[in-house]
Amino acid sequence: MSSSPSVSAQQQSAIAPSRRSILKRIAWIAYGLLALSAFLFTSVPILQPTNPMHDLLYSQRWLLFPHIAGALTVLILGPLQFSRTLRQRNPARHRLLGKCYIAGVLVATIPAVLMARHYPAFLPYSVTINAFLWLTNTAAAFLAARNGRFEQHRRWMARSYAMTATFVVPRIPLPFAVYNDMSLEAGSYFLLAVAIVALLIADLIVDWEAITARRLRRGVA
Ligand code: HEM
Repeated sequence: MSSSPSVSAQQQSAIAPSRRSILKRIAWIAYGLLALSAFLFTSVPILQPTNPMHDLLYSQRWLLFPHIAGALTVLILGPLQFSRTLRQRNPARHRLLGKCYIAGVLVATIPAVLMARHYPAFLPYSVTINAFLWLTNTAAAFLAARNGRFEQHRRWMARSYAMTATFVVPRIPLPFAVYNDMSLEAGSYFLLAVAIVALLIADLIVDWEAITARRLRRGVA
């Protein structure tokens, strides 16, 4: 008795997408919870009047509030834009939200650079470089979509969103994490390191299936 390899391959491909979509959903929910915890456990304390950063941030509030509004827009819209179901169900909405995403990146990055320019250490440069990466990856994603290059659009959007995630990951409240007691100098370089790793992970995610797919054996259709 021989079970046909093509049948099991068909069965696998029927099961795999639903398992993949469940895993994706779990990953997005976990990411959402981490983003919320980053906001609650790092941003909220920084914004309290008793925090040493408060006066500086308050004096820059006309830059800070648009930055937060733009960044939150991008943070929330990103997962919706990556959903294939939502995209296929309503492409016009995907395009509209895409434009809001780009506006969010612009409104988040420009004030971030302006806020950081008076900061000590290497911070003004790290923030400017990260903002530049955020903007250029988003602009490339937009151009690719405009020109109907959807494979490239997906890749550059993943990179753009990876830059958004650089806010979340270094703020995950882990008691033993190195970033808890980092000096400003070290923190400025850490921001750049996080951006490099985030961009690498985005590429790995986009290419994961292609990288891990087994080479087809000769003679097997
Ligand atoms: C979704 C992404 C982001 C969100 C939700 C966000 C949100 C915030 C919030 C709530 C603050 C005020 C207090 C705090 O530091 O927590 C802040 C400050 C700031 N953000 Fe962002 N941000 C994001 C991404 C970025 C990125 C990628 C950059 C760098 C290009 C950046 C640069 C800054 C700067 C320079 C400040 C002021 C100084 C400081 O408090 O650290 N932000 N952001």
